Amino acid sequence: MTLLVTGGAGFIGSAVVRTAISRGMRVVNIDALTYAACLDNLSSVQDNPLYSFVKADIRDPSALAKIFETHNPTAVLHLAAESHVDRSIDGPSIFVETNITGTFNLLEAARCHWEAQGHPDTFRFLHVSTDEVFGSLGATGKFSETTPYAPRSPYSASKAASDHLVRAWGETYGLPVLLTNCSNNYGPYHFPEKLIPVVIINALAGTKIPVYGDGKNVRDWLFVEDHADALLTVLKAGKANHSYNIGGGNEVRNIDLVKTICALLDEKRPKNTPYADQITFVSDRPGHDERYAIDASRIAADLGWHPSVDLHHGLERTVQWYLDNEDWWLALQARNGVGTRLGTIDR
Ligand SMILES: NC(=O)c1ccc[n+]([C@@H]2O[C@H](COP(=O)([O-])OP(=O)(O)OC[C@H]3O[C@@H](n4cnc5c(N)ncnc54)[C@H](O)[C@@H]3O)[C@@H](O)[C@H]2O)c1
Repeated sequence: MTLLVTGGAGFIGSAVVRTAISRGMRVVNIDALTYAACLDNLSSVQDNPLYSFVKADIRDPSALAKIFETHNPTAVLHLAAESHVDRSIDGPSIFVETNITGTFNLLEAARCHWEAQGHPDTFRFLHVSTDEVFGSLGATGKFSETTPYAPRSPYSASKAASDHLVRAWGETYGLPVLLTNCSNNYGPYHFPEKLIPVVIINALAGTKIPVYGDGKNVRDWLFVEDHADALLTVLKAGKANHSYNIGGGNEVRNIDLVKTICALLDEKRPKNTPYADQITFVSDRPGHDERYAIDASRIAADLGWHPSVDLHHGLERTVQWYLDNEDWWLALQARNGVGTRLGTIDR
């Protein structure tokens, strides 16, 4: 199998690349190396003969055509995207260009390649999406694969649009597509603008730990290595033209998550006062979704996949990783917008 991974220099993509290589798959990683990319995430595989990297932008159809011709992939795992909700509020156009038009370009490149190969049944195009396309839940209920789409941010709207394109390419052209919608990921190599790394880094810096709104928003957290395993499971055994929800079964309010991280830091790097004293409530994100929760029973029943890392152990490993890898995140602090509050608007 030759797996074409897009966005493999990002947080989840790099976990997928490392896992796929460790399982003996040939991987071609294409990534435009935006502000969110970090090739250091791939230092453990960069010299592996199974791995190759091409710097390319999914907004460039001719680059994609050339890559399919040169590398002749048997499957595509599509992760490249603009992924930060706050940035989508400040500048939505790049989200439309990359997440919608970029996905369209990739679908067309994959379709041309698949048709030229004689429509092999074994070809797969796996599109990685988010539970945010389903919108916001109240206190009860969970998102299933049949929950109607109701995205509420420019980011989730652009992902929803890309999901619709993927389904249409499956229905109309017969391209063997797969779709996954997963909950919030966390773990090593998480880019330092997202909630969990922000909490750890600000706590260590002795600055305020920002919590949006009242901190009562609920997320279902999935350890990134579990996600990589789930994606490779869907790729191998998932039924074409089906979608699978992927969740960690770890629902928690943001404020409780932040307090748990502070308590782990109190244990691992004690100081005179508790880290939780640095928690500061700040203005809420506009349109902040209240609660996400995933019903992952389809992937469990059909493919036998279950998450293996519970939130406590996953957070413990994550906090330890940030303590051990200060050079990694210090270097990323200089990237545009990192460390500043984004996505606030007056209305
Ligand atoms: N992080 C999460 O919690 C989460 C949850 C559900 C779904 N997802 C989805 O998973 C995927 C990966 O998320 P992530 O958190 O790893 O994102 P990320 O922002 O860490 O990485 C995205 C990668 O895509 C690359 N990229 C961006 N634009 C590109 C372009 N035009 N051409 C080629 N490469 C480009 C970037 O350089 C980066 O390496 C995304 O599609 C995202 O929507 C993420």
